[in-house]
Amino acid sequence: MFLSLQLMKEDFLYKKLDERKTQNAYRELKLTEGMVDFCSNDYLGLSKLLTVNLQQGETLKHGSTGSRLLAGNYALLEDTEKLIANFHGAESALIFNSGYDANIGLLSSVPQRGDTILYDYLSHASIRDGIRLSFAESFSFPHNNLEELEDKLKKANGNIFVITESVFSMDGDLAPLSEITALCEKYGAHLIVDEAHATGVIGKNGEGLVQHLDLHSRCFARIHTFGKALGCHGAAILGSLALRNYLINFSRAFIYTTALPESSVKAIRRSYELFPRMHDEREQLRKLVEEFQQSPIKFNKQQSSTPIQAVIVPGNKEVKYVAGQLQSKQFDIRAILYPTVPINSERLRIVLHAFNTTEQVRSVTGLLQ
Ligand SMILES: Cc1ncc(COP(=O)(O)O)c(C=O)c1O
Repeated sequence: MFLSLQLMKEDFLYKKLDERKTQNAYRELKLTEGMVDFCSNDYLGLSKLLTVNLQQGETLKHGSTGSRLLAGNYALLEDTEKLIANFHGAESALIFNSGYDANIGLLSSVPQRGDTILYDYLSHASIRDGIRLSFAESFSFPHNNLEELEDKLKKANGNIFVITESVFSMDGDLAPLSEITALCEKYGAHLIVDEAHATGVIGKNGEGLVQHLDLHSRCFARIHTFGKALGCHGAAILGSLALRNYLINFSRAFIYTTALPESSVKAIRRSYELFPRMHDEREQLRKLVEEFQQSPIKFNKQQSSTPIQAVIVPGNKEVKYVAGQLQSKQFDIRAILYPTVPINSERLRIVLHAFNTTEQVRSVTGLLQ
């Protein structure tokens, strides 16, 4: 009796879940101990190297017990922000609890009613969600399409913000950042670049694509996340001191949440000590990318010079089947389904890591022939 009442009360949940099942798009959490990692964003293998050395008598608080504006601010956090700003050639940095929070916090607070946000159609969900929370008008432009971007820049009102990822999370390709920067300057737009998948991987010292192309002084804001190649958690927004002060005053994702604990900030610091020197790991990644790109397989693969390799297998059912075949051989490779990616572009998202071997990559491409 209780059960059937409960079922009736939650009927609307079951309906939506059933829809997902019919579309073959039902999501479940998986445990994948002991498989070969071709899935995580731990490109350099840093998550396994990060140990936090404590000084004698030093303890780390595992909770910061308040918002940065109340009890949650401390010197280690502010020093780490200075270190990050310095490394990335920015005037200032402000740490957020995740890349998701950083994008939400920036995009929901900076563009105002009457302003315009232009964003790449393949932008990450956190960018889209931030835009949804803003009162500004927003328009997408087709992926990396400069003509369409220029067309939209011509028609834009108020303060204009252009946002793109430097390395696209589901395709692994790069944004034409030099050209986008030039267009932003031509139309007086503010450029925001999400460097989530470039941090640690692109540039001589893993500084990201913006600095690699020497565009950092021409960007309004950059988002660097710590949960991918940096092997830990959190993110920073880089920009001017005025932007930092603005976010501290107006960004709800910064203000209304408990700050990161000391243990997390120590890990971020340690990561910034280690990843700039991981040249061998970046070289190994480059070799594996070349190996993967040059291996013939029976599916279309996207051109990508980064560790994210997308193999297009249209259809949720079909791509899940191919992923299942690879998983049965102990390769942790996941299917990315519609609606996460546009329909008919469902894919295997194969992520290469410095700790993967050429033999492992050959085994995977062999299974895809
Ligand atoms: C492009 C991009 N931006 C932001 C995020 C969110 O970062 P985080 O995982 O730190 O919340 C992701 C993560 O998937 C991403 O791919």
